[in-house]
Amino acid sequence: MKILAGLFLIVGLSAAALAADNPEWAYPVTPPLGALDNVVMKTAPGSTKQYTQAQIEDSFNPPDWFPDDHPPMPEIVAHGGQRPAGRACAQCHLTSGDGHPESAGLSGLPAAYIVRQMAAFKNGERIAGRAGVMIAMAKVLSDDEVKAAATYFSGLTPTPGYNKVIETETVAKSYIGAGGMRFIAPDGGAEPIGERIIVLPQNATEAQLRDPHFGFIDYVPPGSIAKGEALATTGGDGTTMRCAICHGPNLTGLGEVPSIVGRAGTSIFRQLNDMQSGARKGPWVELMKGVVAKLTQSDMIALAAYLESRNP
Ligand code: HEC
Ligand code: HEC
Repeated sequence: MKILAGLFLIVGLSAAALAADNPEWAYPVTPPLGALDNVVMKTAPGSTKQYTQAQIEDSFNPPDWFPDDHPPMPEIVAHGGQRPAGRACAQCHLTSGDGHPESAGLSGLPAAYIVRQMAAFKNGERIAGRAGVMIAMAKVLSDDEVKAAATYFSGLTPTPGYNKVIETETVAKSYIGAGGMRFIAPDGGAEPIGERIIVLPQNATEAQLRDPHFGFIDYVPPGSIAKGEALATTGGDGTTMRCAICHGPNLTGLGEVPSIVGRAGTSIFRQLNDMQSGARKGPWVELMKGVVAKLTQSDMIALAAYLESRNP
């Protein structure tokens, strides 16, 4: 009994420690959505489609504003699978695969890598943080559905300029709204950036429409990009390892190792932090152990900023 109680204590403590290391700015918690309007038809610039906000938030039939922009979507990407957990990938990762910062960009990632992540969500190698929805989904998808989604997203090309990074001392006051996204506070005002990445939509209206033509801006502390470049290209005197060794000369990926450039800074920060805390593990993540072990959260912000500043 005593041993068992001790075990629970250890497990309980480590869970608390994990949560403490997950800063709120990187792990946004979506507030409850009120009733969605299902009357007013909305449209995105350049699109011939119209949807109500309720249709835009439909997990099994999300908007496809620009059908000519992308190849035909497999059923799982466009309409999902087994309900209620098996939602349509395009809802959060968009038809373009560029994603929203509170999820992840998937466009152009190696298919084998995407398949491996779905397995990791399913088998407990990637645990909650921002991963809850993916864990539930991975448990109900068939191997064929995973394969179809992986093939679709790996065939897409990340959109240059979708994720932008700006160094700043101060940033507009903001709040977390629908979709786990940050929006500028209605009362205005500014606040110090501190040791944070604050991500705001390039166009708040379009972000709420899930329009894939409008991306995001990550505001980061001054000096982040140069600091991140030094760490990434030299390893910073043993603080980390040179990223190019495994992610390829332009960091756009090598074999089954994913591209890490041009991607949302908060999403990259979460991965580094999760790999350090153990919330993301597995045989391939072992290769990242030596990379993340000594990084401070400020180092992770710098790396995320530098990587995002590079072309995808
Ligand atoms: C309701 C929103 C939502 C839907 C729908 C969704 N995802 Fe995700 N996805 C997320 C979030 C949030 C994350 C980030 C998890 C994290 O940071 O740990 C994510 C992460 C991922 C990743 C990991 C990316 C990486 O490089 O680490 C993969 C792969 C992925 N999703 C695939 C899919 C596939 C395939 C589908 C459709 C079957 C899908 N997702 C549907 C929200 C969603
Ligand atoms: C020794 C090899 C190795 C080195 C060096 C390395 N990585 Fe990785 N990295 C990997 C592998 C392998 C994966 C994929 C893990 C998986 O499949 O789950 C990965 C994944 C990642 C991811 C997750 C991407 C995503 O889509 O979720 C990030 C972020 C990352 N690496 C950043 C870095 C940075 C930054 C550096 C340099 C400071 C670096 N890596 C150096 C091997 C390496």
